Amino acid sequence: MKKLTPKHWLLNGRLLLVLLLLALFAGCSDSDEEALGSTASSGSLEKLFSHSVIQGCGSCHGPQGLESAGPNLTTKASFHASLVGNSRGNYTGWLTTGSACAGTYVTPYSVKDSSVLSAISMQNGTTCSAYNYHTTQNSEISGKALTDFVLWIENGAPAN
Ligand code: HEC
Repeated sequence: MKKLTPKHWLLNGRLLLVLLLLALFAGCSDSDEEALGSTASSGSLEKLFSHSVIQGCGSCHGPQGLESAGPNLTTKASFHASLVGNSRGNYTGWLTTGSACAGTYVTPYSVKDSSVLSAISMQNGTTCSAYNYHTTQNSEISGKALTDFVLWIENGAPAN
C-alpha cells in the first residue's frame, strides 16, 4: 500500500474541508429557499399576496392608478383595509362604468358573502360586471391563487 506523505495528507484534508463546506452551504441555501417560497402559512394574507396576479391588482387599484378613488390594493395592509368589511358604497367618489357587485367585498369566514370573488372569479357561481373587464386584463384568478384567496377568507381574512 502506498504511504501518504504529509503533503498528501494536507491535500486530502483540504479536499475534505472543501466538500464539507460545500455540503454545508448547499444545505443552507436549500432551507433558505423553502423559507422564502412556501413557509407563509396557509390562510394567511402573506401567502395570498405571494401570487403575482394578486400583486398585480394594485397596478390599477392604487393611488397612482386609474381606479385611485376605489379600493387601494397596492400593499397587504391597504388590500386588507380596503376590502374587508367594505363595499362599493364605501367609495362614493369612484367613477365606475359598470354596475356594482352586490354586497361586501370580503366578509371574514364567509366565502359566499365575499363579493370580490365575483369580480375576479367564478367561485361563488355568480359574477358581477367588473368580472368581464377583469377577464380581459388577465386579472381573473384561478388555481392556487384562488385557493389561497378562499383559504384566507375562511381563516377570517387576517391582516397578515
Ligand atoms: C387592468 C386594471 C385592473 C386590474 C389589474 C384589476 N382591476 Fe379590479 N377593476 C378595474 C376596473 C376598471 C374596475 C371598475 C369597473 C367599472 O367601471 O365598473 C374594477 C373593479 C373592481 C372591484 C369593484 C367591483 C364592484 O363592482 O364594486 C373590485 C373589488 C376589484 N376590481 C378587485 C380587483 C382585484 C382583487 C384585482 C386583482 C386580482 C383587480 N381588481 C385587478 C380594473 C382592474
